[in-house]
Amino acid sequence: MEVIRGISRMREFVQEQKLSGKRIGLVPTMGYLHAGHLSLVREALKSCDVVVMSIFVNPLQFGVGEDFEDYPRDLTRDSELAEQAGVAAIFAPAVSEMYPSGGYYSYVDVEKTTEGLCGRSRPGHFRGVTTVVTKLFNIVQPDVAVFGQKDAQQAVVIQRMVRDLNLPLQIVVAPIIREADGLALSSRNVYLNPAEREAALVLYRSLNQAEQLVTAGERNAKVLQETIEKQIKEEPLARIDYIEVVRAEDLQPSEVLQGRTLIALAVFFGQTRLIDNRIVEV
Ligand code: PAF
Repeated sequence: MEVIRGISRMREFVQEQKLSGKRIGLVPTMGYLHAGHLSLVREALKSCDVVVMSIFVNPLQFGVGEDFEDYPRDLTRDSELAEQAGVAAIFAPAVSEMYPSGGYYSYVDVEKTTEGLCGRSRPGHFRGVTTVVTKLFNIVQPDVAVFGQKDAQQAVVIQRMVRDLNLPLQIVVAPIIREADGLALSSRNVYLNPAEREAALVLYRSLNQAEQLVTAGERNAKVLQETIEKQIKEEPLARIDYIEVVRAEDLQPSEVLQGRTLIALAVFFGQTRLIDNRIVEV
């Protein structure tokens, strides 16, 4: 496995692979890999010959006071895990390679789908994501890119962007991977102290409860929202950022559930903001 730092070498690597007829899969990450990321690699290998993983903590998607500086990084460990998982090349550019000094002026904005949920709490976040993802698509030119359902809004926004801008690749969204007790895997879980780690299980429990209500016939989004809110508020270490029930397709609010519906949560445990979600089909 090759660890590539420069854009020109990354392009060269991809050209070599394409010349020998290989299908390229891209797994974009910010590193500090866990089993969730490795499941994205497995997903990419199902339809591609060569998987490139990008590891880049993208400053553009972090707001003022967020954890850009503290975001966990360990390229040595990540390289070992990625190689074992079957990644052919890691693209790990420096910030100066992606955003050279002297001015950066070009951004990609996706409207509507970025207005609510994390877009409301983290202004500018999705502009940072869609800009860097577009750059990664342009550099790696993958046939397929795989994203996790854990970042449900990100997956919808990127699918929208690919459709709207006619980008020539297929987006695959892979299921959420959880710890045995239900906590969704996230690189940010390392920030949690043992009490917060325990408290964070309320996310999984409340999503399960909401899904059970839907299975039992509940169709009122407000009832679901309030049920989740009540359960999370019983957990003293939890502070709710949002609880939203929206159409899975375009993330617009749905008062009465119809079709595929996304129940999405963002909750702080101490300084750590965790997100989780569930798709229900009615
Ligand atoms: O999901 C992430 O880790 C990031 O948002 C992504 C897609 C790698 C863009 O920086």
